[in-house]
Amino acid sequence: MAMDFYREYILDHYRNPRNFGTLEQPDVHSEDSNPLCGDQLAMDLVVQDGRVAEVRFKGRGCAISQASASMLSEMIEGQPIDEVVKLGKEEVLEVLGIPISPARTKCAFLSLRVLHRGLAMGGFEHPNLDDEDEDE
Ligand code: FES
Ligand code: FES
Repeated sequence: MAMDFYREYILDHYRNPRNFGTLEQPDVHSEDSNPLCGDQLAMDLVVQDGRVAEVRFKGRGCAISQASASMLSEMIEGQPIDEVVKLGKEEVLEVLGIPISPARTKCAFLSLRVLHRGLAMGGFEHPNLDDEDEDE
């Protein structure tokens, strides 16, 4: 039963993605693709007073990649950058709520990868950079 709920939750985010789109003047813009399928994802952030004031993502991909991007955007909106930089795979898996097979990890973590890349480019250090490609 619980599994069905989480599948529904993922499909809901896939069909009605939160924070989908782009920002006019983002402080941070980054994009990347899943090397296995070529699906691309871009993310824009506006950072104000040390917080993620606004976030948008855009891209195409499977339900898991789109849902995790949508969920991640909800997780980081309004949050202090100091906390956002600490988000890692564990938090993404937790919010997805279903077991992710090794074949789908790149889908599940594509948005996290884009976020990490953007934060790094924006000069916001993140402690998880080292393990970003651990499942390569
Ligand atoms: Fe392309 Fe999942 S199949 S991101
Ligand atoms: Fe994301 Fe390798 S492509 S962990």
